Amino acid sequence: MAETKGSKEPPSTKQVVCRALSRVLLQAFIWIHQGFDYIVDIFCNWWYNESKRQIVPPVKDPLLLESAVSLAEKIRKKEVRSEEVVKCFIARIREVNPIINAVTDECFDEAIEEAQAVDAIVASRSEEELKREKPFLGVPFTTKDSTACKGVLHTLGIQARKDVRADEDSEVVARLKAAGGILLGVTNIPEINMWCESRNMLHGQTNNPYDTRRTVGGSSGGEACVIAACGSPLGIGSDIGGSIRLPCFTCGIFGHKPTTGLTPTRGLTLRTGEEGRTMVSAGPMSRYVQDLAPLLRVLIGEDKAVKELQLDDEVPLANLQVVYSDALGDIRASAMRPDMMEPLMRAVNHFQEISKLPVRKIHIKNMKYTFRLWHYWILKEPCDFSYELSNRKGRVDFWRELPLKLFGMSNFTLAAIVRLAMEAILPVEAPAWAEEKTNSMVKEITEILGENGVLLFPSSPMPAMHHYASFVRPYNFAYFAIFNVLNLPVTQVPMGLNAEGIPVGIQVVGAPNKDRLCLAVAKELQKAFGGYVPPFPV
Ligand SMILES: *[C@@H]1O[C@H](CO)[C@@H](O)[C@H](O)[C@H]1NC(C)=O
Ligand SMILES: *[C@@H]1O[C@H](CO)[C@@H](O)[C@H](O)[C@H]1NC(C)=O
Repeated sequence: MAETKGSKEPPSTKQVVCRALSRVLLQAFIWIHQGFDYIVDIFCNWWYNESKRQIVPPVKDPLLLESAVSLAEKIRKKEVRSEEVVKCFIARIREVNPIINAVTDECFDEAIEEAQAVDAIVASRSEEELKREKPFLGVPFTTKDSTACKGVLHTLGIQARKDVRADEDSEVVARLKAAGGILLGVTNIPEINMWCESRNMLHGQTNNPYDTRRTVGGSSGGEACVIAACGSPLGIGSDIGGSIRLPCFTCGIFGHKPTTGLTPTRGLTLRTGEEGRTMVSAGPMSRYVQDLAPLLRVLIGEDKAVKELQLDDEVPLANLQVVYSDALGDIRASAMRPDMMEPLMRAVNHFQEISKLPVRKIHIKNMKYTFRLWHYWILKEPCDFSYELSNRKGRVDFWRELPLKLFGMSNFTLAAIVRLAMEAILPVEAPAWAEEKTNSMVKEITEILGENGVLLFPSSPMPAMHHYASFVRPYNFAYFAIFNVLNLPVTQVPMGLNAEGIPVGIQVVGAPNKDRLCLAVAKELQKAFGGYVPPFPV
C-alpha cells in the first residue's frame, strides 16, 4: 500500500524506524493472537473430550430430507397428506430435541389439527390455484422464540418472561401462515437475541447437531439447529448482526438476510413495526436453496418481490462480475483457518470457470472498523439491552449483576453480563465519523458490484467453535455484522464439511436490492458442491 500522503520529502530515519517497529509489533500481535487461538482449541479439545461428542441419529423417514417446496408440491398433488408430513417432523423433533435442545415450546396438537384441515382443502381445490395462493400449504415450519407466535412462548430468553405467550402473530409469521405454513413451535435464542451462542437461563444451551460439544451460533441458533437436524424443513430467522447467517453457517444450512427495510418488523422481539430505520431483517432459513426465494416472496410480499427485487428475472451467471475478499482486516478477529479458505477458493475457482469476466480479489480498507461501526448503529436501534433485559421494568445494572453472577445468583447468562459491560464501558462513537465511514464503504462496495456483481466473502475465520469459546473471540462476528452496517443482502451458503465433520461455508453478498443475484449464485454453488450435508450418514 502506498502511504506517503501529502509530504514529498523522504521520510526521516526516525519515521523509518517507527514504521518498521510498528510493523514488527503488528506482526507479533498477529502471531501471539494465533498462538492464543491455538491454545484455546487445545484446551477445548481436552475439556470437551471426544468421547462426549454426540451427533443426531439418522432419519428413518425420507420425507424428512425433502425441501419445503417439494413437500408443498407433493401435498398439492395429493402424493402425501399434510397430516403425515406434520406428524413425521413432530416425531423427529421428539427424537432429536433431548440431544440438541433446540425447540423451546411447541404447538403440536394445533399443528396436527391444521394439517387435517389442509388435507380437506387440498381435496376440493385445483393444484394451480393452491400453488398461486398458498405456496407452502400444509408445510410445517418453526421460528425463533423472539418472533411472536400467537399462544406460544415469547420469553426472549429471560426469566421475567418465563410464562409470557404472544397475543398475536408477528407479521412475518402471519404471512407464512397465510401462505399455508403450519407452525410446529419456537426455538432457542440468547437473551434478547444479543449473543453469538444460543443459551439462556430459562431453556439452557442448544447443541450443534454435528457435534454436541459445539455451539449452534446465535441468535437464530435453535432455529438453524432444528432445521439441520431435520426437525423442521423451513424457518424464519431475524438478523441484526449476523443472527440468520452465523447459525446457518454453524449448522451447515442456507439462510438469506434480505436488503434492509424490505421485511416487516412487527413482532420481532417486541417491535411494533413503527420504529423506523433499523439494521434488522427477517429472512428465510432452509437446508435447500430452492426454498429461500419462495419464502422471501412470502415474507416481503409479492409486490416488493417483483418491483423492488425483480425476483422473477433470469440471472445469466456467465455475465456476473464476481469479486472476492478473504479478510476483514481487523487483527483482533481470529486469523482465517485453512478449512475456511478452502471453500471460499473452491467457489472462486468455480466462477473463474463459468463466468466470462475474470474473478477479482478486492480489499475494502474500512472494513476493519466494523466492530466500532456496528456498535454505533446498534445504539441507534430501539432495542435498549439493559431495559429489555429487565422486561421493560427498569434497567439491569452491570455493577449489580457482576457480583451476583460471580456468586451464581444472577438471573442472566455470562453473555448478557458481557453485553451489559460493553454498553457500560465502550465509548460512544462520533456520529460524523461513523456515518462518513459507513457511507463511504456502501458507496465503494456498491460501485464495485454495480448492477451485476456479487462479493464472495468468508463466513467466519473458523467453523463452529466449542461452547463458550466465543467469549475469547468476540471480534469474529464482525464478518457477518459488516453487512448489517452496510444494509446489503447476503445469502449464507453451506459448502460441505471439514475434516472433523463440521460445516463450512461462505457468504454471497450483493448490492442493495440485488438479492436475486445472491440467491442465483447460492443455487449454482449448491448444484456444484452439494450444499447441505446431513450430520448423519445417509
Ligand atoms: C476421554 O474420556 C474417556 C472416558 O472418560 C477416557 O478414557 C479417554 O482417555 C479421554 N480421552 C482423552 C483424549 O482425554
Ligand atoms: C430473578 O428473577 C426472579 C423472578 O423473576 C426474581 O424474583 C428474583 O428477585 C431475581 N433475582 C435477582 C437476583 O434479581
